[in-house]
Amino acid sequence: MEERITKLLQEVQQFSGAGREAVETFRLKFISKKGAIHSLFDELKKVPAEEKKKVGKILNELKQSAEAKLAALAQALESEQSPGSVPDLTLPPIPNKTGNLHPLTLTRNRIIEIFERLGFNVADGPEIEDDWHNFTALNFPENHPAREMQDTFFVAKNPDVLLRTHTSNVQIRMMTSGKPPFRAIMPGRVYRNEAISARAHCFFHQVEGLYVDRNVGFADLKQTLYHFAKEMFGKDIQIRFRPSFFPFTEPSAEIDITCLICKGAGCNVCKQTGWVEIAGSGMVHPNVLRNCNIDPEEFTGFAFGMGIERVAMLRYQINDLRLFSENDIRFLRQFHTVI
Ligand code: PHE
Repeated sequence: MEERITKLLQEVQQFSGAGREAVETFRLKFISKKGAIHSLFDELKKVPAEEKKKVGKILNELKQSAEAKLAALAQALESEQSPGSVPDLTLPPIPNKTGNLHPLTLTRNRIIEIFERLGFNVADGPEIEDDWHNFTALNFPENHPAREMQDTFFVAKNPDVLLRTHTSNVQIRMMTSGKPPFRAIMPGRVYRNEAISARAHCFFHQVEGLYVDRNVGFADLKQTLYHFAKEMFGKDIQIRFRPSFFPFTEPSAEIDITCLICKGAGCNVCKQTGWVEIAGSGMVHPNVLRNCNIDPEEFTGFAFGMGIERVAMLRYQINDLRLFSENDIRFLRQFHTVI
């Protein structure tokens, strides 16, 4: 019997657990009427008289120790749960984790801010578009290979319904529903059937700009984008215009800036050239103005379009475009303090 008492004493001492259930388990096992200690007291009656004193003493010790343990467990439970317990005001506060804006939203907001100060409005349009607004009105001839420059996701055929491949559809919607002058930028999501890689995705974001008025010239385009690049990337940025082709602009130019990731040394983002393309641009093609019932003899305009992902990659030195859409919280959290 002595052995059993010592073993139980050990069990009591080693018992660990928190919460109401653990306390109750302890009580039932050791203290309750049907518990182990109670039945040992019953057995004590049968212990020979000469041993009774000794065994009784250690049994009492066990009982006291179990009661003390129960009191301690109950106390711990109380202080954990009691709503009235006084909070410790000296503890450091639990930081309040607020969310933060996505790096693409931060970049889009910055782009908008720069152009708004130049007097551009912000315009919006549909992502599901018809062929006319996405292609035909923009001077893409029927069956012309230029349509294949932008691998299109079709939603329906005849009449064609598609996911817009660029935000130029908003230019058309704007010009057909109002009168010049127009000076606006159009941020939004676009879709192209491209293989997903570090540099390309099947959906991405663009900001397109349009300025149509009397006497708008190429110099205005150049100065506007030069101003933008300096505001966005700092006054030391270099910019170059490269002749290019778009059906909806003539002449057309692609705009490159020095690669901010490798500082011109060559990396995977700039395809080892030291330059990265940030925008397409040009003077609005007379056919596009005509398609929108604007007289190209009276009005001229420039347009440009840039990828927000590309600008954000350069701004934050990110070398893989897929990070923007993977929603990895470890990536997104890094923009917490970035404005
Ligand atoms: N819409 C073109 C594209 O997505 C970009 C662009 C816009 C080029 C306006 C010139 C003028 O490729």
